[in-house]
Amino acid sequence: MDKQNTSTHDSDGSDEARNRHIKIYINGELVHRDEAKVSVYDSGFMLGDGMWEGMRLYHGKWGFFEEHMDRLFNSCKAVSLDIGIAREDILDALTQTAAANDMTHDVHCRLMVTRGVKSKPFQHPALSQSGATIVIIMEHSKPAEILQTKGINLATVPQIRGLPMSQDAKFNSHSKLNCVIACLQAEQAGADEGLMLDPHGFVNTTNACNFFIVRKGEVWTSTGDYCMNGVTRQKVIDLCRANDIPVFEKNYSLYEAYGADEAFLTGTFGAQTPVYQIDGKRIGNHYGAGPVTQHLQKLYKELIASLY
Ligand SMILES: Cc1ncc(COP(=O)(O)O)c(C=O)c1O
Repeated sequence: MDKQNTSTHDSDGSDEARNRHIKIYINGELVHRDEAKVSVYDSGFMLGDGMWEGMRLYHGKWGFFEEHMDRLFNSCKAVSLDIGIAREDILDALTQTAAANDMTHDVHCRLMVTRGVKSKPFQHPALSQSGATIVIIMEHSKPAEILQTKGINLATVPQIRGLPMSQDAKFNSHSKLNCVIACLQAEQAGADEGLMLDPHGFVNTTNACNFFIVRKGEVWTSTGDYCMNGVTRQKVIDLCRANDIPVFEKNYSLYEAYGADEAFLTGTFGAQTPVYQIDGKRIGNHYGAGPVTQHLQKLYKELIASLY
């Protein structure tokens, strides 16, 4: 079992000093991170009642901005959360925040929208009367080398992805307790991240990223039910289709995952992160990305480069 744990969101550490004095956007104001505070009555703090997006800035261009806004606005509409501003205003706020921090590249952003400040410390959404709280945290951020050279060690965890009629996994909500519990279980099993099954026992996703395997040149991922509708997941599927790489969204079990030639995770932060081990079983005979994963990484980099 691996002793030194890694996380899919590890950055290379060179940015820590630069991020110590960043400015945070809170409802139109830009303040030093030490002064960036929201009310203890905020719906996001009190109940996890809010939605967020993780986005990356590449040479001054936000990666897949429209896709992120489609997901954010769809999620907020589904829970009757009025963002209060249009997507162009959000782009404006992102631009202001990037400029205030002198950031153009290797930047990760967490855009958060909550139902706002409550008049009393209770659950009813009608108590949130202030209008949405909008926060943008933008950090210098470069994924750590080890994520590519070695990869990630997964453990299958007891915590599963739920049915959409409990809390739909497509909500990128402030409440991530389901994922946090899965992550804790993985850590306690000595792994970096938790591999989560769906309610039927099929392999679904990890606690923070979407999950793919490669078998005999074919790329497989879950049906898309029960997991985050990841922007990167969809881009990888589209790239496969555009480049004649067989890709399937289907049910499969741990039997096929353990026997895969390659496995990788997708997410905005790490793009495609190789997986080298699942439940103590080595995947393929390589560390880092296997040949199909490397091919997809190259195609994804070209796609990103076409944005700026
Ligand atoms: C549980 C989960 N899965 C997958 C993803 C990856 O989604 P994306 O590719 O849009 O970053 C995220 C990102 O927020 C997530 O929280």
